[in-house]
Amino acid sequence: MNHYTLTRPDLERPALLDVQDISRLYGPDKGCQAIDFRLHTGEVLGIVGESGSGKSTLLRVLAGLEAPNTGAVTYHPANNQTLDVYAISEARRRALLRLEWGLIHQNPRDGLRMGVSAGANIGERLMALGQRHYGQLRAAGQDWMSQVELDPERIDDAPLTFSGGMQQRLQIARTLVTQPRLVFMDEPTGGLDVSVQARLLDMIRTLVRQLGLSVVLVTHDLAVARLLSHRLLVMHRSRVVEAGLTDQILDDPQHAYTQLLVSSVLTP
Ligand SMILES: Nc1ncnc2c1ncn2[C@@H]1O[C@H](COP(=O)(O)OP(=O)(O)OP(=O)(O)O)[C@@H](O)[C@H]1O
Ligand SMILES: [Mg+2]
Repeated sequence: MNHYTLTRPDLERPALLDVQDISRLYGPDKGCQAIDFRLHTGEVLGIVGESGSGKSTLLRVLAGLEAPNTGAVTYHPANNQTLDVYAISEARRRALLRLEWGLIHQNPRDGLRMGVSAGANIGERLMALGQRHYGQLRAAGQDWMSQVELDPERIDDAPLTFSGGMQQRLQIARTLVTQPRLVFMDEPTGGLDVSVQARLLDMIRTLVRQLGLSVVLVTHDLAVARLLSHRLLVMHRSRVVEAGLTDQILDDPQHAYTQLLVSSVLTP
């Protein structure tokens, strides 16, 4: 059972993200194809599947980083606008990711600027939103470092001097400081040892609940998916083979591949 009670997504409002039949293929069954789903405000949607099943490809397409071969990604911002993510200019798409969305990379080095201080990593996202007051930027940097359990005294240190787990927490602070409406996470606890992973998961859970985040979460780890997601898409060889509520899928998988996936986790 999923004992963690997430805030229920707001199903009354129109979907935040509408994904219509998208495909991005590099070769036969390599990438993602025929993907269809809607993400609601306040919802955490997990995308699970084995290595190479196409999870990161799908996430890159959703986040506006890689155009699909076919299909459309439609974003509905607050003011009843409808944005076809791949019909707007690349500059506007990049601005969306910078100003309204957030992307947490599996490898924190891809999401941080390693050459500038921890504080600058957090502050520059706020500067992109137009904030210029040095004292406020610094205070926000320290506040967010505390929120992700980093020592705020280290605000002037470069991320290079931080451990992998600390860098990942800094990347989370940098991403969430702007209070993005939509967050994409690719294996946010991947590559970390188990105890660090557990603490980080706990932190992400708390932040998701406190901030009421809408999240697309990619993970190959079913325990992570169970803890964080309301709903799951199960990917296998570029396609979604099963979709539904997290507990339903993990407790009573219908598709043969999902059954295999679930049983391989349960069997030592
Ligand atoms: N830029 C690319 N060029 C060619 N092939 C690619 C490219 N990106 C991904 N692929 C291939 O597409 C398939 C899906 O890759 P993807 O990275 O989306 O999988 P994944 O589910 O995220 O895997 P993992 O769990 O290992 O991160 C793989 O066979 C991969 O080799
Ligand atoms: Mg991946």
